[in-house]
Amino acid sequence: MMIINKTEDKIWEYKELQKSIHSGTVEYRESKKEYSVSEKSDEEYEIISKKEDKINVKLDVINLSFYYGKNQILKNISVKIYEKKITAVMGPSGCGKTTFLRCFNRMHDLYSDIKYEGEIIIYPDGKNILAEKKNLNLIRRRFGMVFQKPNPFPKSIYENVAYGLRINGIKSKEELDEKVEKALKMAALWEEVKDKLKKNAYELSGGQQQRLCIARAIATEPDVLLLDEPTSALDPVSTAKIEELLVELKKNITIIIVTHNPRQAARISDFTMFMYFGELIEYDRTQKIFVNPSNKLTEKYIVGAFD
Ligand SMILES: Nc1ncnc2c1ncn2[C@@H]1O[C@H](COP(=O)(O)OP(=O)(O)O)[C@@H](O)[C@H]1O
Ligand SMILES: [Mg+2]
Repeated sequence: MMIINKTEDKIWEYKELQKSIHSGTVEYRESKKEYSVSEKSDEEYEIISKKEDKINVKLDVINLSFYYGKNQILKNISVKIYEKKITAVMGPSGCGKTTFLRCFNRMHDLYSDIKYEGEIIIYPDGKNILAEKKNLNLIRRRFGMVFQKPNPFPKSIYENVAYGLRINGIKSKEELDEKVEKALKMAALWEEVKDKLKKNAYELSGGQQQRLCIARAIATEPDVLLLDEPTSALDPVSTAKIEELLVELKKNITIIIVTHNPRQAARISDFTMFMYFGELIEYDRTQKIFVNPSNKLTEKYIVGAFD
């Protein structure tokens, strides 16, 4: 497990370990490390670890760096994202959260003069997302994405959700109806819109629009849902609805959510990454991060001492 301890020494040790893992020399030590999380933790924490007998890695980020032109934005980030869990990415504004999220679906490739280093291995395939040259659409299909501001298309509620399904070649009305309904139900919006599916999406409230965007993102059944501060434009009630919904969704899908609100990370996530100036300062079980962070900076951030 990625525990980075208090001292610089430990960080260095950790980085060295990562390097040797990467070169394939200490496979065994790595897996031992991964499950030795509880050795330093409190009892409660151990109970949680035992209950979850098996968690799979969905995405293995190895020494990821990212550059806009000559500016290095992400610095050698290594992290394992677990399947059907919620991983929160928190950190002050400008620390690289959005940049990190957009590496997974290769969204940066829509622009020029960008560069990735490192690997993002997606499982169960074991393929490196960053090595893919041609079939970016195949990668992108594995990820649904939801942005900060709700951005429904200027189309009907139904067509917003059907959009990706149509692109994927589904033509039968019956199948479309069924999948649209399923996605809207999963996004906890169906009851509110089932009688007005033909209405323009813009007629919905902000919170409903964001749930519609979630429905649109999950309709095509991606493996991973990426959310970039999805509630920052919403009121507390809509925020609570979306948080509840995400906790429900993780039964079926791996979720990575960027938030600048540590309380949101604490409320809904299983794992939390704390980023600062493009570096991953600490990554651990959310409970550990909030009860007993290993790094002073993390502690400072969660008590609201900056940003
Ligand atoms: N298109 C871009 N070109 C150059 N630099 C960018 C671009 N987008 C973001 N940046 C820079 O990358 C850094 C990280 O930004 P971002 O990932 O948006 O941070 P966060 O989401 O944590 O607020 C910032 O310093 C920002 O100025
Ligand atoms: Mg951002």
